[in-house]
Amino acid sequence: MAEKIHLTTPVYYVNAEPHLGHTYTTVVVDTLARFHRSMGRDVFFLTGTDEHGDKIARASEAKNQDPKQYAEGVSRIFRSTWDTCGISYDHFMRTTDDYHVAFVREVLQKVHDAGDIYFGEYGGRYCVGCERFYADRELVDGKCPDHKTEPEWIAEENYFFRMSRYQDALLAHLEANPELITPVGYRNEVLGLLREPIGDLCISRPKSRLTWGIELPFDDRYVCYVWFDALINYLSALRHARPDDWEAYWAGAHHFIAKDILKPHSVFWPTMLMAAGIPVYRALHVHGYWTMDESKISKSLGNVIRPLDMRERFGMDGFRYFMLRDMAFGSDSSFTEKAFVERFNADLANGIGNLVSRVLSMQHKYFEGRVQAINEDTERVADHTLEQAFVEAETRAIAALERTMPHVALEEIWKAVAACNKYIVEMEPFKLWKDDEQKPRVGAVLHVLCDALRHLARLLAPFMPETSAKIATLLGAEAGRLADPAPPWRRSFCPGHLVGQPERLFPRIEIEVDEVAK
Ligand code: MSP
Repeated sequence: MAEKIHLTTPVYYVNAEPHLGHTYTTVVVDTLARFHRSMGRDVFFLTGTDEHGDKIARASEAKNQDPKQYAEGVSRIFRSTWDTCGISYDHFMRTTDDYHVAFVREVLQKVHDAGDIYFGEYGGRYCVGCERFYADRELVDGKCPDHKTEPEWIAEENYFFRMSRYQDALLAHLEANPELITPVGYRNEVLGLLREPIGDLCISRPKSRLTWGIELPFDDRYVCYVWFDALINYLSALRHARPDDWEAYWAGAHHFIAKDILKPHSVFWPTMLMAAGIPVYRALHVHGYWTMDESKISKSLGNVIRPLDMRERFGMDGFRYFMLRDMAFGSDSSFTEKAFVERFNADLANGIGNLVSRVLSMQHKYFEGRVQAINEDTERVADHTLEQAFVEAETRAIAALERTMPHVALEEIWKAVAACNKYIVEMEPFKLWKDDEQKPRVGAVLHVLCDALRHLARLLAPFMPETSAKIATLLGAEAGRLADPAPPWRRSFCPGHLVGQPERLFPRIEIEVDEVAK
């Protein structure tokens, strides 16, 4: 039976519309979902929206709407944005969905019955933006490091989850599973957090202060803290959508987040799972921030890049390529239009776009678009060298994707693109054509290049699905899945097979650098 994998994005807050940061995580997970499917694995790809809590209540007040109606509107924008962008999610969940609310209450009751939730008083500095209390040592000049605002002092009676009880078990689990949190820098950060007492977690909000939340099953004067509610989405939606075999998917659960929400995912969530008697997820993959002028891109800072604008201006695949290639997964990356345009023109317009149109043009110019036969007389060592470049690119790209390093996988694939260009330069088909005796060799060179393009379509499918399909259509061939045996190299087209007319896949972006550098 196919291996089951559960891939998740965070559930996004509905106080902002989708921007570059949300789109990056979603596109990474989409790429991996397509990759795993292409490897023959059974994927459940979950995304959705986080709709309860202070932050949303305040955002809806500012718009004079009731929170339910407000959340509904923004959630719909997220969903339709991902649809327009071609994101291949299997389920879109909302934390206001009935099945989720019911399951959160079930978990709360279970943990309460087991004695891991108690009532007590607490005072602390609370950041509304982050929806969490901050210890003084976590603040920078008395302000939240992310929102650059001073947290409010809040003191009240609340319910607490005995998180501290699971601290040793969490540390032991992390030590026994070196791949639980990657890249390793984030694992070390969590090990650092676990060197200090993690304390207990306040998991309720009195209704006198906040009503927009899930009511506690054991005290109707309180609603559930939004993080305790939101983290459970990863399980509630899976159980709802895959009721018969959710446990098999859960055994392959991979969460993807940025570093802003490392602590809830690495400390709150695994201890909550332990208390609920559910195995800890398989892996947490953490990436860095997209920044602009040194600041994290976020709605609150107003430096927003909208996915639909980028798609409209440059095409979705160009935008996907830039995000996946430019950010080393785990590190921060700064977004400038200049960097975008330069990479687009170099790697896409001049790189792969030019390669595809050159090969098809020659095929039409010399052979009226018909692929020629290859035989022992017409093949050369260089053909095998090019084949080897593709075999290596495939092996290395797969290994990089298995380790969640899409930027490395693309770098490897572009080495194969460079190998094709080198092959054309060295074979000089335009010169050979002048010699009648060499014409069959020109046919063989172009056949090898059509094979290379076909292979490229197969390798690009997870990253740039539209481009992959386009190349395959132009060749009149299937791109194929990575799980299938590699397509036969050279001679994979029947002699006489007709390929499509050359097309510009990625027209060069002509914008003055000074203008876009702003
Ligand atoms: N609702 C919580 C998550 C709950 S998950 C159980 C939340 N939502 S959020 O809308 O603020 O989204 C945060 C996530 O969006 C980050 O972890 C990351 O996936 C993505 N990003 C938002 N801004 C980002 C950048 N500037 N850079 C990279 N990714 C960022 O937190």
